[in-house]
Amino acid sequence: MRVLGIESSCDETGVAIYDTRAGLLGQALFSQIAMHAEYGGVVPELASRDHVRRLLPLVRQVMSEADTGPEKLDGVAYTAGPGLAGALLVGAGVGRALAYGWNLPAVPVHHMEGHLLAPQLEADAPAFPFVALLVSGGHTLLLDARGLGDYVPLGESVDDAAGEAFDKVAKMMGLGYPGGPRVAKLAETGTPGRFRFPRPMTDRPGLDMSFSGLKTFTLNTINDLGGPAALSDQDRADVARAFEEAAVDTLVIKCRRAIQASGHQRLVVAGGVSANRRLREKLDADMKKRGVRVYYPGLQYCTDNGAMIAYAGALRLQAGEHSDLPISVRPRWPLVELEALG
Ligand code: KG4
Ligand code: ZN
Repeated sequence: MRVLGIESSCDETGVAIYDTRAGLLGQALFSQIAMHAEYGGVVPELASRDHVRRLLPLVRQVMSEADTGPEKLDGVAYTAGPGLAGALLVGAGVGRALAYGWNLPAVPVHHMEGHLLAPQLEADAPAFPFVALLVSGGHTLLLDARGLGDYVPLGESVDDAAGEAFDKVAKMMGLGYPGGPRVAKLAETGTPGRFRFPRPMTDRPGLDMSFSGLKTFTLNTINDLGGPAALSDQDRADVARAFEEAAVDTLVIKCRRAIQASGHQRLVVAGGVSANRRLREKLDADMKKRGVRVYYPGLQYCTDNGAMIAYAGALRLQAGEHSDLPISVRPRWPLVELEALG
């Protein structure tokens, strides 16, 4: 089974070809970060227009790299949601049109399922069942993943996603967009223990999370220091450190509870924030004590990419997924609405 995958839900145009026997045959990614940076965040209309410009040239490039003509493909997968409506429509329209023209099945993929499956692209792939922590810019979810499409919700953020909180804290300190990696970098030189931030919703049972209060606490700390303009480089690093430690500790505590509640021996962590080094170190250390293996995507597959969509599409096609002709996308689409396959 060989599938062309297209990702265009937000600010990255990703294309890849995955073969269930040979693995990943080719991939390309164009990031729009530079274009959105001057606005301090993603501008949806600019994102859609840029996907239009990039997508077909990237498809040509990847097909040539993978030495794959349409006759060697078994399907075209594309992200159908959740994400920005216009951006999704570009990938869906192009994916559907290519599939139609090449007489192949088109496979709509849920973006978060793409993230969830990304660690399986690694040599040491996690088998079902496992607990999944999905931490991206738009979602923070804990799931009991029992099989392909069979995802039972355990907990989620009741307000901001973890990545969103990283991005907003970065904005408060004038670090620019996207903020996660910049906050993480700054936190490395932060003084441990200078500030102590709360670990939200950890003082009572439950697997839901909240990151909005932590964000406000960060803003108050910055204001107590005299406001963003008054911060020294060291202040900024210390605030970043305190924020990152609080966000990471909160995620680790919730993962520990989810593992206990599910009884699973495997934890999968994926989505943009899974690239965070402190999160990986803390989770590895904590889970090791419990005999639990933690699986992450390779660093290039933590954030949005086409490979995870091609992979998810190939698994779905293999499991007998079918979809009708209309081009439809779902900007809002709860992952747990998927049904078990295979
Ligand atoms: O999965 P992703 O590429 O897009 C969504 O599906 O939302 O995740 C992007 C998010 C952004 O919020 C970004 O700031 C965050 O992941 N991120 C990080 C790191 N790298 C990316 N957050 C913390 N530490 C990082 N190293
Ligand atoms: Zn994503």
